[in-house]
Amino acid sequence: MKKSAALVALLVITIAASAALAAGKVTLPKGYEQWPKSKQKIVTDKKSLFYGSHYIYVEKKTMPAYQAGKGYPEGSRFVVVFYNIKDEGGKLVEGKKNMIVLMKRDKKQTATGGWLFAGFGSDGKPSGLDPVQNCFGCHQKDAADREFVISRYGEFK
Ligand code: HEC
Repeated sequence: MKKSAALVALLVITIAASAALAAGKVTLPKGYEQWPKSKQKIVTDKKSLFYGSHYIYVEKKTMPAYQAGKGYPEGSRFVVVFYNIKDEGGKLVEGKKNMIVLMKRDKKQTATGGWLFAGFGSDGKPSGLDPVQNCFGCHQKDAADREFVISRYGEFK
């Protein structure tokens, strides 16, 4: 009895560790804060996942394809950082960082249009969002003709 309980515990630890490892494989690109950064974008629709304030960071080598709206080379990367907003007497004020998302061109990710989608908490740790369930739907619906990149270079700055 005792032995099997220990075995179960060991199994649980092993599964948890491998899940953590798998989730930990995707990390935020180092130094993305130095990439070209969009102007502040505010979404006031409370039903939107993007409710609040956000900024898009585009890696320099991703810029030519972003400008063209197509032709993203393998490894192209976008990061978006989200902040809460508060209404202070009719004025929208930026609050705390609440989420970070990443898209990286990766031809192995066939279920999500050849992009790796990943979500992170404000601390930069993977938030475990499912790329197919939680991400790809909108990108597929809104930007199938732009290789699933929704934002436009013309609205970047
Ligand atoms: C509710 C619809 C919706 C969902 C769900 C969604 N996105 Fe987006 N995403 C958008 C919109 C709209 C933009 C463009 C924002 C802008 O123009 O400022 C965007 C932009 C982005 C960008 C910048 C590149 C681009 O396409 O413009 C990244 C990176 C991104 N999303 C990643 C993700 C990840 C990762 C998830 C899942 C955790 C996700 N998104 C889920 C709607 C969505």
